[in-house]
Amino acid sequence: MFQNTPVSFSGVQPSGNLTIGNYLGAIKNFASFSEQYKCFYCVVDEHAITVRQVPADLRRRTYETLALYMACGLDPEKNTLYVQSHVKEHAELAWLLNCFTGFGELSRMTQFKDKSQKHADNINAGLFTYPVLMAADILLYQTDVVPVGIDQKQHVELCRDIANRFNAIYPDTFTIPEPIMAKSGAKIMSLADPTKKMSKSDENTNAVVYILDDRDTIIRKFKRAVTDSDTCIRYAEGKDGINNLMTIYSVFTGKTIEDIEREFEGRGYGDFKMAVGEVCADALAPVQEKFKCFMSDKAQLEAQMKKGAEEAAYVARRTLSKVQKKLGFVQIR
Ligand code: TRP
Repeated sequence: MFQNTPVSFSGVQPSGNLTIGNYLGAIKNFASFSEQYKCFYCVVDEHAITVRQVPADLRRRTYETLALYMACGLDPEKNTLYVQSHVKEHAELAWLLNCFTGFGELSRMTQFKDKSQKHADNINAGLFTYPVLMAADILLYQTDVVPVGIDQKQHVELCRDIANRFNAIYPDTFTIPEPIMAKSGAKIMSLADPTKKMSKSDENTNAVVYILDDRDTIIRKFKRAVTDSDTCIRYAEGKDGINNLMTIYSVFTGKTIEDIEREFEGRGYGDFKMAVGEVCADALAPVQEKFKCFMSDKAQLEAQMKKGAEEAAYVARRTLSKVQKKLGFVQIR
């Protein structure tokens, strides 16, 4: 569809509280994706309501998520950045794909099992069919690759199953997407328990550094980071805390692990933690500055959303009408 340029699609929940794990592991690398792919980044507000949301918060976070992606270097001239509910085709294709998805398949999704345990008072049908809407997101754009974290791999695999099943009945309808895990991105661990991945939903806020944390908060969190009883700054098995801090320092500065070992030879953990906090705060300062600037102009953000939605809808409409034709729906113009 894009003169042989492969398509990359990714969705992001409008949570706003993105962490340095999201930043270093994924978003920072997305900027260069547009050299290789036609990229779509969708703020998935329709997915967000599968758990109860406060309307004002959801609205604010939708703006924030778009602003944050732009602040992290995603240029809206080179990428299609938009909001899911602005492109009606997502919900519409999701319904059609619901009729090609098994109850058993959805019952096996580990995220559904986790979330229905967590939100036992609200196990709604949307939570159950969440992966079908995600499949619609992906398939509408004839997507080749889907950059996701490991937790979403099962959903992308289900998407492939649905697309293959549909194509077997109605040939040549969908491109079969491939999940890709960030290769170049680093895996950042929790500061409180460095054997666990840093997660934006961690209840212990000291475990997590958010992209929008201010300088003092960032430095305080690194100062408190859990390490070990050794005193030497070197990368080694069993030194998960120090290894994690070295990784973070390395990605922010571009220095190798050996460089860092040399730089901090004979110095203590306190010094090192301070240095990590400082490079992190320095690196995030321009992102936060841009974020503030984008957030201060809602009209401009809305114009951006509108432009993105128009670009996306142009592609989405074509896929949806192809699907409807194949299914035997009457087309009127
Ligand atoms: N489910 C994804 C998450 O929680 C978000 C998402 C929605 C998504 N639609 C997508 C990711 C399509 C990739 C492709 O992270």
